[in-house]
Amino acid sequence: MEKLIGKKKISIAVFISGRGSNLKSIINFTKRKSNFKVRCVVSDNRSAKGLELAKKEKIKYLVVNFKKYNQAENRVLKFLQNKNVQIIALAGFMKILSKLFIKRFHGIILNIHPSLLPKYKGLNTHKRVLENKERYSGCTVHLVNEKLDSGKILIQKKVKISNNDTSKSLSKKVLKAEHLIYPKTIERICLNL
Ligand code: GRF
Repeated sequence: MEKLIGKKKISIAVFISGRGSNLKSIINFTKRKSNFKVRCVVSDNRSAKGLELAKKEKIKYLVVNFKKYNQAENRVLKFLQNKNVQIIALAGFMKILSKLFIKRFHGIILNIHPSLLPKYKGLNTHKRVLENKERYSGCTVHLVNEKLDSGKILIQKKVKISNNDTSKSLSKKVLKAEHLIYPKTIERICLNL
C-alpha cells in the first residue's frame, strides 16, 4: 500500500465477452482500498451482459467488431493509450490477441483461466476435468503471451471436486475462487509497478 501513497491509481482495462462476473469482482475490489481503478472495459460483443455493469458504474467502454482483426486491435490500442491503461485483465474475453497487439501494448496483460494450468487449456474445461475423474480443479491467473493459456503462471487456487459435481456445480465453485484471486493478483502487481 505505502508505495503508492500520494501517487495516482494505476489504470486497468478489463476485456470481456459475456457475463462479466469477474469484472464485477474486480470493480467491487476497487471500492475498498486499492491501488488501481477500472478505467475502461473492452468487449467484442455488443450484448455482453458485463457491459450493463460498466454502464451502471459509469465506466467508459468500447465495443469492437473483430471481423477485421487488425483494424479492431488498432482501435483498441488507441483507446487504451488515450486512457493511459497500464494493465489489461482479460476476463472471459473470447478473442485471442495477436502477437503484434501483445508487442505493441506497453503494459502487462493478464488472463484468468478456469483450470489448474498447464492442464486443460482452451474451452470446456470443467467437462473435460470431470471426464478425466480429476479430484481437484481450480483456476489460474497468468501472463498472456502469443500462445493460448500458456504465459507465466502467477497464482492458482485449487478447488476440491466432489463425487456429485457436474460441470455446472464445478464451474460455480471455480468461479468463486476466480473472484477471490483475480483482483488480489492485480493489486499485487500494481504494488510492484
Ligand atoms: C471465467 O470462468 C473465466 O475463467 C473464463 O471465462 C469465464 C468468464 O466469466 N476465462 P465471467 O464473464 O467473468 O463471468
